[in-house]
Amino acid sequence: MSKKISTIGVLTSGGDAPGMNAAIRSVVRTAISKGIKVMGVRKGYNGLINGDIFEMNTKSVSDTIQRGGTILQTARCAQFMTEDGQRKAAEMCRVFGMEGLVVIGGDGSLQGAEKLSKLGINTIGIPGTIDLDIACTDYTIGFDTAVNTAMEAINKIRDTSTSHERCSIVEVMGRHSGYIALWSAISNGAEMVLIPEKERPSDEEIVKEILESKKKGKKHFLIIAAEGVGGSEQLAKKIEELTGIETRASILGHLQRGGSPSALDRLHASMMGAIAVELLCEGKSNRVIAYRDGKYVDFDINEALQMKKTINEKMYEVSKILSL
Ligand code: ADP
Ligand code: F6P
Repeated sequence: MSKKISTIGVLTSGGDAPGMNAAIRSVVRTAISKGIKVMGVRKGYNGLINGDIFEMNTKSVSDTIQRGGTILQTARCAQFMTEDGQRKAAEMCRVFGMEGLVVIGGDGSLQGAEKLSKLGINTIGIPGTIDLDIACTDYTIGFDTAVNTAMEAINKIRDTSTSHERCSIVEVMGRHSGYIALWSAISNGAEMVLIPEKERPSDEEIVKEILESKKKGKKHFLIIAAEGVGGSEQLAKKIEELTGIETRASILGHLQRGGSPSALDRLHASMMGAIAVELLCEGKSNRVIAYRDGKYVDFDINEALQMKKTINEKMYEVSKILSL
């Protein structure tokens, strides 16, 4: 039986994601319900190193479940990449009496949590990223909202693209991950999807498909491209030059990272926040929570980070079939 913990901390790190507030709220309220004090750490690992830390109560998280962004703010912290920075952060956990820490963020943030656990701070990770690029889990906080935001935006672009009989390239987020692109392509009925996990077709191959589709009487040609593929503007110019069809590129950018979280994001974030506190109470450390095959499970962070996220081949195949 592990010793009862009295104080834990919570932080958000890396790119923000809709639903992070629901996770923070759940950590705070679950901990308080168990008589545990909760310290909020502002601006990710930066706040940990600098002691930008405050006690949270149930009111600190009132009226936050529906808000995008993160009330604790987030950061990318270069100093924490160094051993010196990590030692300082672990020391600050001790100064503020934090026996455990919940880290909400992407795979970089989880690597940071692993470093802290090696320095004696019990850490639990919650996968928070719009990219869905954490291999151990079928779900990451923010993805559902982001893909719905992209879908709404693409609907609008599709309207104008059809009216003008244009080709439209819509670039969605995902530097290393094609998940937002793939889900959007299927959900928006795109003619083509370009993702970093797959070899990009040549300009000539793309043009051939556009011309064939035009011959079939299609009034627009919608290409969804993941950010990691790059070159959307250049591709638009090239298509126009080679086909004579007016082509526009739209880069959706950071609008995909904001906005009120979807029900799915709120629900999973709330469940994961509660489970994170329970794991800390059981004396667990260096674990990341995952939603896999319809269940909440947890993995050793090192093992989770070794896993490789691959694109869903069936979805990719279906996206092609449906674009006929
Ligand atoms: P995300 O968590 O969204 O993947 P990043 O990869 O930018 O975002 O990571 C967020 C922060 O986590 C980094 O700025 C850094 O402070 C910390 N971090 C990332 N990788 C490591 C690592 N290998 N060791 C220690 N800390 C790391
Ligand atoms: O990891 C989430 C993400 O939105 C990626 O899809 C994107 O490439 C990156 O963050 C953008 O990060 P920044 O906040 O530095 O613009």
